Formats: sequence, structure tokens, C-alpha cells
Amino acid sequence: MAPGLYTGRVVLVTGSRRGVGRMIAEHVLEQGGTVVGFARGEATFAHESYRHLQVDLVQPAAIQEAFLALRREFPALHIVVNNAGVLLSQHALIMPVDAVRNMIDTNLVAPFLVSREAARLMKKGKWGRIINIGSMASSLEPIGDSVYAACKAGLRTMGNVLAKELAPFNITVNTLAVTAIATDMLAQLPEEQIRSAVAGLPIPRFATPDDILNVVDFFASERSSYVTAQTLFLGGVN
Ligand SMILES: NC(=O)c1ccc[n+]([C@@H]2O[C@H](COP(=O)([O-])OP(=O)(O)OC[C@H]3O[C@@H](n4cnc5c(N)ncnc54)[C@H](OP(=O)(O)O)[C@@H]3O)[C@@H](O)[C@H]2O)c1
Repeated sequence: MAPGLYTGRVVLVTGSRRGVGRMIAEHVLEQGGTVVGFARGEATFAHESYRHLQVDLVQPAAIQEAFLALRREFPALHIVVNNAGVLLSQHALIMPVDAVRNMIDTNLVAPFLVSREAARLMKKGKWGRIINIGSMASSLEPIGDSVYAACKAGLRTMGNVLAKELAPFNITVNTLAVTAIATDMLAQLPEEQIRSAVAGLPIPRFATPDDILNVVDFFASERSSYVTAQTLFLGGVN
């Protein structure tokens, strides 16, 4: 069999059970990679090169434990996709503080902790790619999305600083800001709200899996060693 884009690579995908994370995990597996998936629930698919770990990313100790397990099983970690996220958005005047904290812990603190643990492993191999899944919300700043949009803007900024800190170790850090794509997360929003957000995009359509995978492949590529601290917005958002 011809080697795939990810042959020889160990790739950690957070939130690999569903939606965008599952698309990315299955693509990497099809392209010859080994995938370690972190999610709260049990695995929703099986593959000989897929290892699923149940991790609640809002628990820092659980992240550390999962990395211990990963280190025991795999000689190296090459690529991380910080994909897991939650959308608990509400108008600021009615949003409970628990929802605020959960979004910050899942969408910002967890990617920081995962990136840091991953960078420690990547540093040993003098090669790494950290890819954050951001959102158009960080640029569009929609009404009712204050904390989610702020988390995604923070993810981007955090990635840019980590890119500088990790450049000496040949580790790149980039962000892919995704537009609307049909997943469980999107299904939580009123249809009319989604339709009008999509209609307002410079390219007024939903994202496809391939739109996302194309950019993940680009950031993950051996040839992208001079690409870091970048955010790529899909659909013409900027
Ligand atoms: N869908 C869109 O239109 C859209 C647009 C812009 C950006 N995004 C971004 O794309 C990423 C993926 O979104 P999606 O639409 O695929 O979401 P989704 O369908 O709701 O899936 C979210 C995934 O994240 C995992 N997750 C959430 N909280 C977790 C926690 N505390 N610990 C471990 N895993 C956790 C879930 O694990 P379980 O399965 O175990 O619950 C699930 O696998 C997110 O970062 C989101 O912000 C999505």
C-alpha cells in the first residue's frame, strides 16, 4: 500500500467521538496515521490504529493521567488537534456562571494544558504540529456568543504566543477557524440563526469536511515547517 499523508505519525485528536473531531480522526487513519482520541464518552468507532481514551478535559488531573497512558503506549507524539469544544452560549444577561466557566475550561484552559503536555513530548522528537480548531465567532462576534467567541479569540492568541515559545523546538502552532458545519454542536442553535450567519459569509455556504481536512493537512504537513502563528478562516471570514 502506498504511504499516506500521516504514515508514521502519531496524532492526538481531542473530541474524536463526534463531529469535526471524528472527521479528522478518521481521515488521519485513512491516511496511514495512528490516532489517539480523547473524549468524555466511549469510542464510537474502531480501527486497528485508533486508541480511545476517556478523558474529561475540564479536569487537569485527567489530562495528565491521559498523557501518562499515551507516553506508556506510544514512543512519540507528532501532531495534536485541539478540537474538543462546547457551545453553551446565551445572552449575557441570562447566562449562568457555570456555563461561563465550563466554556472557558473546555475551550481555552484544556487546549493550553493539552498543548503543554504535547509540547513536552514533541520537544524530545524535535518536531511537532499543534493545530487549534477555532471559530468564525472570534471574528464575527455574534450577539449571544460573548464567552464562546472570547474563548476562540483567546485560543488564537494563545496559539500565537505558544508558536513563539515552541519555534526553537521545531513545533508549529496554527489555528483553523471553522465556519458552520452540521454537527451536534450546530444542531443546538436555532436554524434561523445559522441560516442568517451562513448567508452573511463572503462565501455563503456551510463548510464541508474536505474544507476542514484540506487545511488540517496543510498545517500538519512536513512542508509547512515555516508556517506558524497563523489563523486561517474558512469561507472568506477575516
Ligand atoms: N460545528 C460547527 O459549526 C463549528 C463551527 C465553528 C467551530 N467549531 C468548533 O469545532 C470543534 C468541534 O465542534 P463540533 O461541532 O464537532 O462539536 P460536537 O459535535 O459537539 O463534538 C464535540 C466533541 O468535543 C468533545 N468534548 C466536549 N467537552 C469535552 C470534555 N470536557 N472533555 C473531553 N471531550 C470533550 C465531545 O466529547 P463527547 O463526545 O465525549 O461528549 C465531542 O467529541 C469545536 O472546537 C467547535 O468550537 C464548530
